[in-house]
Amino acid sequence: MLSRIARHGPIRFDEVMEAALYDPEAGFYATAGQAGRRGDFLTSAELGPLFGAVLARALDTWWEAAGSPHPFVVVEAGAGSGTLARSVLHAQPRCRDALRYVLVERSARLRAAHADGLPLALPTHAFAATAGSDGEDEPAPAPAPAGPIAVSLDALPPPGTAHVVLANELLDNLPVRLLELAAEGWTEVWVGADGGRLVEILLPAGDVVLALSAEAGARVAWQRHAVQWVSDALEVAERVIAIDYATTTDAMARRPWREWLRTYQGHAVGSDPLADLGTQDITCEVALDQLAVVREPDRVESQADFLRSHGLDGLVADGRAAWEAGAATGGLEAIRGRSRIGEAEALIDASGLGGFSVIQWSGR
Ligand SMILES: C[S@@+](CC[C@H](N)C(=O)[O-])C[C@H]1O[C@@H](n2cnc3c(N)ncnc32)[C@H](O)[C@@H]1O
Repeated sequence: MLSRIARHGPIRFDEVMEAALYDPEAGFYATAGQAGRRGDFLTSAELGPLFGAVLARALDTWWEAAGSPHPFVVVEAGAGSGTLARSVLHAQPRCRDALRYVLVERSARLRAAHADGLPLALPTHAFAATAGSDGEDEPAPAPAPAGPIAVSLDALPPPGTAHVVLANELLDNLPVRLLELAAEGWTEVWVGADGGRLVEILLPAGDVVLALSAEAGARVAWQRHAVQWVSDALEVAERVIAIDYATTTDAMARRPWREWLRTYQGHAVGSDPLADLGTQDITCEVALDQLAVVREPDRVESQADFLRSHGLDGLVADGRAAWEAGAATGGLEAIRGRSRIGEAEALIDASGLGGFSVIQWSGR
């Protein structure tokens, strides 16, 4: 990064974030970073199987609402190593025979883990609309294996090919531009080099129009990549669900910027985002008002409310009953039941994962 800046001059913050996270040789996700107990941060999906079990129920609701289509194509974007997919399939949703579960993950290293324990098949088997061919001379495609089928891709599939696109903690990981209000108006954070280290440089924010009253020194993130992702996802499927820590541009301007733009490394809060590039995660709360420019979401609710409305309490009651029935003998089912109770507490904790927002666009 230093040599690139020395050669070509300062670059915008979003380009630094892009390289820090996704550079194929030195980026955090390309090299070592990932969610999980042995990773750098814990997501709802990595906490245990309960989140996936509830999502499996949500998928059944959406499948039935769509008229139980066969195939039923669900895209999970930012799928990491595939943990959520495994939990969803393990929960045996009613839609399983029709289910084509498409994992989309940018990191080749994490994609390589998708083969582990998932029924991976060729992409042509997942997409009904693209599986065949219009050409009369072309051989008929091999029949698709029975569902559920999983498919691993590095980018979203073509428009109109899926019923649902969901993303857990993806949008916060997409690069952001950083703006700061100076005496003369909004400026943008660019990154230059000084004595072998990266430093911020404030330049006029040319193409950004912000109708926001804030105090001098206030910062906001400009989330063009997240906005583009929502727009692309809505082309792929009518129902899009993004789960993330959400805020508004206005709220960002009233808080210290390092509160909403954070770094993580090995389950601890990391350092300055311009230091230790590629060795720490850089994540930014998602401004709902910016996403709504694509289209107003049909529903925004807390993760706790979303999970409850899709059967969390019943699954916890089953877990508690299993624990009470087998506590004395300490059988596997009883221990699983007890950990389900603990998992649920973490998933609905309003000051943690339960306070995340589930943002849904559910069709026109
Ligand atoms: C914070 S992790 C979340 C992983 C998983 N969803 C979970 O909940 O544990 C974000 C993941 O999104 C991936 N990612 C980032 N940008 C992406 C993109 N444009 N398309 C697909 N995956 C992307 C990253 O490589 C990373 O694995």
